[in-house]
Amino acid sequence: MLKLIKREELYLSGYKEYCKEFHENNITYFCPTNPNAIDGNWFEKTKEWYDKKELGLIENQPKTLYFWAVDENNFIGEFQLRTELTEDIINGIGSVGYSVRITEQGKGYGQNILKQGLDIAKKKGLDRVLLNINELNEQSIYVTEKLGGKLMDTIQTYNKVEGNHLMRRYWIDL
Ligand SMILES: CC(C)(COP(=O)(O)OP(=O)(O)OC[C@H]1O[C@@H](n2cnc3c(N)ncnc32)[C@H](O)[C@@H]1OP(=O)(O)O)[C@@H](O)C(=O)NCCC(=O)NCCS
Repeated sequence: MLKLIKREELYLSGYKEYCKEFHENNITYFCPTNPNAIDGNWFEKTKEWYDKKELGLIENQPKTLYFWAVDENNFIGEFQLRTELTEDIINGIGSVGYSVRITEQGKGYGQNILKQGLDIAKKKGLDRVLLNINELNEQSIYVTEKLGGKLMDTIQTYNKVEGNHLMRRYWIDL
């Protein structure tokens, strides 16, 4: 059964494999940690940074809650929730990030993670979330619309990883 949990060292090797799959497949829409940086001490080394990020204490970075999606002992993917709607979030990464490792895609996990993530957002007191999606990311557009996403607009935007591209902005009411 798929669960969203707080980051846990027990799943570190699965997290590393997940990162490796994304890096080896050059997926532009989503770029997790470089797997080469994940050694035996990585979890401990980064813990304080993640704890601060969750409290909104990292300068110039949005407060973000991190969840790992696991099914029994298998690492499946991630869910990230940015709880404040700043200008940067509205025009940039949106309030939700979610992903499924390449080898587990197409099995319903993406929809399940987003559904569980939306429940978490609601429990945190949010009444809507914003998903900003590259116009070419057909899978995420499909999943977002299936879970009730309403298209606000499509804007031209730029970031280092995706370059100049069109981005759809979807609201999901909770
Ligand atoms: C988006 C993502 C999370 C989806 O995960 P997933 O586990 O494959 O999702 P699911 O299996 O639950 O659902 C995929 C759906 O997309 C559909 N689909 C697959 N390819 C598609 C395409 N090219 N166009 C439209 N729909 C497509 C599938 O049929 C399936 O729908 P169905 O179950 O109704 O048949 C995954 O592709 C991913 O991690 N992508 C990289 C990270 C990312 O882009 N995150 C979102 C950033 S906004």
